[in-house]
Parts: sequence; C-alpha cells; structure tokens
Amino acid sequence: MAEQAKAQIGVTGLAVMGRNLARNLARNGFRVAVHNRNWERTRSLIAEHGDEGTFVAAESMADFVAALERPRAVIVMVKAGAPTDAVIDELATLLEPGDIVVDCGNAHFADTQRREAALREHGLHFVGTGVSGGEEGALHGPSIMPGGSAESYQKLGPIFEKIAAQVDGVPCCRHIGPGGAGHFVKMVHNGIEYADMQLIAEAYDLLRAGLGAEPAELAEIFREWNRGELESFLIEITGDVLAHADAATGRPFVDVVRDQAEQKGTGRWTVQSALDLGIPITGIAEATFARSLSGHADQREAARRAFPGGGAQLKVEDRDAFVEDVRRALLASKIVAYAQGFDHISAGSREYDWNIDLGGTATIWRGGCIIRARFLDRIREAYDEQPDLPTLLVAPYFAEAVSAGVPGWRRIVAEAARAGVPVPAFASSLAYFDALRAERLPAALIQGLRDNFGAHTYHRVDRAGTFHTLWAGDRSEVEA
Ligand code: 6PG
Repeated sequence: MAEQAKAQIGVTGLAVMGRNLARNLARNGFRVAVHNRNWERTRSLIAEHGDEGTFVAAESMADFVAALERPRAVIVMVKAGAPTDAVIDELATLLEPGDIVVDCGNAHFADTQRREAALREHGLHFVGTGVSGGEEGALHGPSIMPGGSAESYQKLGPIFEKIAAQVDGVPCCRHIGPGGAGHFVKMVHNGIEYADMQLIAEAYDLLRAGLGAEPAELAEIFREWNRGELESFLIEITGDVLAHADAATGRPFVDVVRDQAEQKGTGRWTVQSALDLGIPITGIAEATFARSLSGHADQREAARRAFPGGGAQLKVEDRDAFVEDVRRALLASKIVAYAQGFDHISAGSREYDWNIDLGGTATIWRGGCIIRARFLDRIREAYDEQPDLPTLLVAPYFAEAVSAGVPGWRRIVAEAARAGVPVPAFASSLAYFDALRAERLPAALIQGLRDNFGAHTYHRVDRAGTFHTLWAGDRSEVEA
C-alpha cells in the first residue's frame, strides 16, 4: 500500500465505544484502519457506516498494523484488564520503535504506568487515555484525557483535538501529563461523577419527601435548576429520567427501577487512591459507599423489618423556600465534591511528578464528558488566577456560593436527620466544610489518646518539638 493511502490511525476493538470512536475519526476526515477479533463486527461497521469516511478494514492484526502510516498510532478499545494486556502483547510484537499504542478504556492508572514502562523498553509509546461521554460522546465529540509522552502527543494531539467536543472554539482535549496521568484524571472524573449523581439523587429524594410530588413534577424543578448555576449534563438528564414513564405499567420510570445502584469500579479506585494519598475526598467516598449500601438487599430487608417506619415525610411550610434550600445545598455540596476531586488530582500530580495543569483539566471537562457543567469555567478561572489555590472553596466565586448556601444547607441536613431521610453526601459535605473552617478540631484529643496508650507523641501549640507525657508515671512531660 502506498504510504499516503495508509491509515493515519487505527482502532482495534469495535464494540460500541470503539466503533463510535472510529466513526468519529472517519467523519472528521482521518483515514482509519479498523480491526476486531471477530471479523463480522468489522464487516458490519463498513457495511453500515463505510460511507462516513475512509476506513481500511483489516482481518488480521498483522494486516491492521501494516495498513498504518508511520509512526503508527493504534487505539485499543477492548475490555479493561486481561483482554487489554493480551492485545497490547500482540501489538508489541508487530509494532516498531516510535509507534504509539493508545488505551482509551477505563484502565486503572497503575496498570497504565506498568504498561507504559514495559512498552518503553521496546521503544514504543503507551498512551493511557481517559475518554468520557459514553457512546454518544465517542461519536459526536468526547472529552479526551491523554497521558503518555509529550512526543506521542505531537502525533495524537491534532487528531484527538479535532474529534473532541469543542467549547467556545476550544477542544476538550489536552495532554494531561506523562505515564498514567490521563487515566488518573479520568478516574477522578468518575469519582466526581459518582458524587454528583449521589447528590442529585439525595436532592430528588428530599424534594419527593418534602413536596409529596410525582417524579414528573420534580422533573420541572430540575429543568428550572438547569437554567442557572447548576446547569450541567447530569441535571439535564435528571429532568429527562424523572419525566419518563414506564411503557409497560404507565408508572414513573424511577418507581419501576430496582433501587440498587451498580458500579464498574472507577469510583472505588478513586477512593482507594485517595486513601493512599491521604486526601479526604469524603463526598466521593460517601457516594461510593451509598451505592454499596443500596446493593445490600438482605441487610436492608432485615433492618426494614427491625425498624419499621422509614420513608417519613419532611415537614415543609414554604414550598418555594424549601426547594431553594435544596438547590443551594446541592450547589454547595457539589462544590465540595469538585474541590475534593481537584485536591486529589493535585496530590496525584505531586506524588507521581506529572505536573498536571488543574485549570487546563477543568477546561477539557467543560464539554463532552459526563460531569460537564457551567461552573467548570469558574474552576478554570480560579486556578488561572491562583495556580496554588489551597482549596477551590476559598476561590471568590465558590466562597460566595457556599456562604450564601450555608443556612439552607444546614436546614436541609438537619430536617433530613429529623425526618429520617438519608442524605449521606449532603451531610458529609457539610461536615467537611465545617471541619475545614473550624478554629480547633478534636484531633488534639486523638493525639492525647494516642500518646496515652501508645506513647505516639504529640506537638504543642506553644513550643516547637515533639513531646510525650509519662501517663503511667508522674504525668510529667518529656521531650521525645
Ligand atoms: C464516562 C463514564 C464512563 C463510565 C460509566 C459507568 O465518563 O463516560 O464515566 O466511563 O464507565 O459512567 O460507570 P459505573 O458503572 O462505575 O457507574
């Protein structure tokens, strides 16, 4: 094949995400080689969408690699874990130094680090790339978060920036940093996605308990909210899901869906990584645990029987004021979730030496991805103004939104506790806020207890040094 007729990029793994990415590339004028273990899938892609651009269909992996221009860029879009490793191993034997392997699946960043180091030994670039936006995003413009070497981005950047979502003429794609940085940032994106959804779900639950309204009526409230500061993809689709009626029964769709939230694991990874890094991403953790709790059907059943009377109603005197309190509580808790997520990225960047631009990350989440939201522009502005911001909560726009929301936030959390409506993410976010701003924390007592039973020592507020009290002796203090 003449070099100029060769494909500029290849996609192997043509399930929905791979197929849609390949179509997006072809629609944007790139020559795309396509391959799938099962040829029928490749054939059907060409039969159904071959006219959308230039596809080069390959039956074997060797033909697929041979169809690519140099340096070759191959997107791997297969299941995370062992299937990804198998495809990478096969590719490594066929590719040449300088070629690029891109993993666009939801891989764990530690796996990406390992694969990157292994392929580097062969002179190959391995680019773990976060892709958000689901099937629709992959086809019409996702948010793309590539890690890997700066050199690989020279080839991939112009391609990815073209197929990504565009907001105000700016592509929702940028080089995140070396190694596993791209997948790390995608992981935190998903953690924030978990928190965002849990907060929306708690807001819905409160509104339903407080207003006694049907889901379709509540949909209107979310649609209204989507015209203000809360404007975001998730709030928008909440309106759609709540308004939807089940065709089989005519009942509200949310009432016929089993109330057990599932997960593929990215939220859990986020919490595990935050524990390792010592970053309190409490909202994301609550959201992840809330999903786990919902799935423990047996325990829930036993507790329902032992403690009947759940599902109490909230007492609401002024409906409009109540809805506004919930809105403000949602906004404030959401700001906490994003503040924690960005803290996590910043800690990961320091730990692994990735030099991630936080404002730049906010920029590429403005479009295409699941957590796209109006206030990401404000996050970008906050980090542009002060790159070493200690926490997003103190940036002027967010500080104002949180301060304005505090009274309503407290009323909502207190009323929910009184009525027995579980709001773990709202309550935990408020506690995080109060803990951060506390003059003194009871952590001092914990230090005292640790020193008492284990001679773990403590620091004093009035003098430098490390101290221990002789608790079992005369209780005098010694310098440790
Ligand atoms: C995205 C999403 C996506 C994720 C799903 C399912 O950014 O497009 O984050 O990558 O796979 O949302 O995640 P859970 O099954 O864990 O909810």
